[in-house]
Amino acid sequence: MPQSKPYQPSLLRFLHGVNALIAVLAILTSFLVYNTYDGRFGQLPLPRIHDIIGIHGTFGKILLLALMPAFALYSFHVGYQRLVQPDSFQKLTQLNKPIGWYSLQRIVNTLMLLAVTFSLTSGSMVKEEWLPAGELNHIWYYLHLTGWVVLVSCLALHVLISAKIGGLPLIVSMFSLKYHSNDTPRTWFEQIRSSLRRK
Ligand code: HEM
Ligand code: HEM
Repeated sequence: MPQSKPYQPSLLRFLHGVNALIAVLAILTSFLVYNTYDGRFGQLPLPRIHDIIGIHGTFGKILLLALMPAFALYSFHVGYQRLVQPDSFQKLTQLNKPIGWYSLQRIVNTLMLLAVTFSLTSGSMVKEEWLPAGELNHIWYYLHLTGWVVLVSCLALHVLISAKIGGLPLIVSMFSLKYHSNDTPRTWFEQIRSSLRRK
């Protein structure tokens, strides 16, 4: 367990929080879409929601056009140290030491960005009309379904590894609403500028 309480930059918490929230809503509504119109790989007795495809498409579009680009830019530039590093795969052999687990976490953080991107791009190719018309065999629909399995598996790994590394305090620190006086939203612009200058 970590000795001191972890603290996450408020800009990271904001971008990660809104992305995680809308991504989880897209994942849940997408399951309802599958359950209502498909169900070939298993079905649950859940209620039908009117226009669930429209609701799912709206969450997807918000992620695709606004939230993910901002979070990806943040992660590539300001938060790049938490993404895969040149020596991450080599350090994976040292899972008996903390660095091995940190390397795995960075690889999985990066996989999260890739998995969301795959779901968003394949979703853009799926037509609203296909499932209500019973057209379940389009290649883009299969790719989009595969994206769901990949994303949910990566998300489970992402949460499990975070729990393994920092326990509940790390997870709580990622969603906490408190911030230090030198890390207010007013300082976000300056934080981005100085991190770009340091690179
Ligand atoms: C069981 C899994 C899934 C099913 C059955 C499903 C189904 C659909 C359908 C039918 C559409 C067409 C609706 C439209 O164009 O408005 C769509 C679009 C979309 N989906 Fe999914 N989806 C799944 C998973 C996901 C996931 C996990 C994400 C993202 C995290 C996602 C993001 C999108 C996006 C961005 C669009 C395009 C929206 C648009 O351009 O209007 N989907 N999906
Ligand atoms: C689908 C939604 C999610 C995506 C796309 C995502 C993606 C990411 C990415 C890219 C990072 C690294 C950020 C950086 O570069 O600075 C990160 C960090 C983190 N995420 Fe997520 N995440 C998601 C959901 C979650 C959830 C639901 C939890 C916990 C319940 C969580 C816990 C964490 C933690 C604790 C960290 C910090 C790890 C560290 O210290 O390096 N994430 N996430």
